[in-house]
Amino acid sequence: MITIAIDGPAAAGKGTLSRQIAEAYGFHHLDTGLTYRATAKALLDAGLPLDDEAVAERMALEVELAGLDRSVLSAHAIGEAASKIAVMPAVRRALVEAQRAFSRKEPGTVLDGRDIGTVVCPDAAVKLYVTASPEVRAKRRYDEIVGNGAVADYAAIFDDVKKRDERDMGRADSPLRPADDAHLLDTSEMSIEAAFQAAKSLIDAALIKKI
Ligand code: C5P
Repeated sequence: MITIAIDGPAAAGKGTLSRQIAEAYGFHHLDTGLTYRATAKALLDAGLPLDDEAVAERMALEVELAGLDRSVLSAHAIGEAASKIAVMPAVRRALVEAQRAFSRKEPGTVLDGRDIGTVVCPDAAVKLYVTASPEVRAKRRYDEIVGNGAVADYAAIFDDVKKRDERDMGRADSPLRPADDAHLLDTSEMSIEAAFQAAKSLIDAALIKKI
């Protein structure tokens, strides 16, 4: 069993990279952001408050990893709500436990999120910290929305990216930061293929070491 930990801020490209790695190696993939989003959506749907830690913890304990689907959890309001409840230690404890159990699946797993290399899987064989400038990340979000035929406002998206970064990097429990032994991948001027090749060499080296 081998675990690949991929962390980074919103819209840095870690989702695409994680899916590509999982597919290339036949590993199970968990987008841990979806666990926070599913908890937030359950609260929103039930009309429950986003600032009651005990209530949010109960919802977090009920999240089923198998049914997570980004297309029903992608709404902007859900992402915002997710980053609010993600500051709560009881919510994080519940979700991290489920994520750790997932990470032990055979033959290997790829987990992406904010705290995988630092908290969820500190012993991961390969840790990547995928980042890009806020301008590039906002532009990618913008292109994605426009590409889907919707209207987007670049300035508002840029503002959101910065606010989300501040919340994720500034929280007391498990803030977003690269693990000491993480490999940094700045995708600002790197194609997804180049990022994948860089990740692949690191994973291949780790696999050889394990044999
Ligand atoms: O990656 P995504 O935008 O789906 O994540 C939504 C929010 O969930 C993030 O802004 C972050 O606050 C939280 N999150 C987290 N730890 C993770 C994954 C996501 O705190 N491992």
